Amino acid sequence: MDLQELYRMVIMDHYKNPHNKGLVDLDGYKKLHLNNPSCGDDMTVEVKLNGDVIEDIRQDGHGCSICCSSASVMSELLKGKTKEEATKLVEKFYAIVTGASVDNEDELEEALAYKGVSQFPARVKCATLAWKAFERAIKEE
Ligand code: FES
Repeated sequence: MDLQELYRMVIMDHYKNPHNKGLVDLDGYKKLHLNNPSCGDDMTVEVKLNGDVIEDIRQDGHGCSICCSSASVMSELLKGKTKEEATKLVEKFYAIVTGASVDNEDELEEALAYKGVSQFPARVKCATLAWKAFERAIKEE
């Protein structure tokens, strides 16, 4: 199996079996809704902080396989990280989906599957929608 095929499998697996899907609507969660103006798809992310640590992330929305799977991957990768660690990973993710090279890209774990998105600029908004919602949610805390 080549790397591209592995990445495709990661994306399809998270699309079919999304992690942390469904909103809890509870106190203590910061909720942020964003939509992709180019297609109308939308994503809502809820973030619960415990001090400086991302204790929980929930996500729900409607979108293409890239958008919905990326929300699932994001929620898994960033849960348990500090705000600072998570912010660095989000920036790293933005870099790889736009084709920039980054140090220690393995830190992105399954999110590396979206590297190929850089060849399809129209899909960058799909891949980053949930990550932008997360980023805004922790900034507004
Ligand atoms: Fe709408 Fe991807 S086509 S988010």
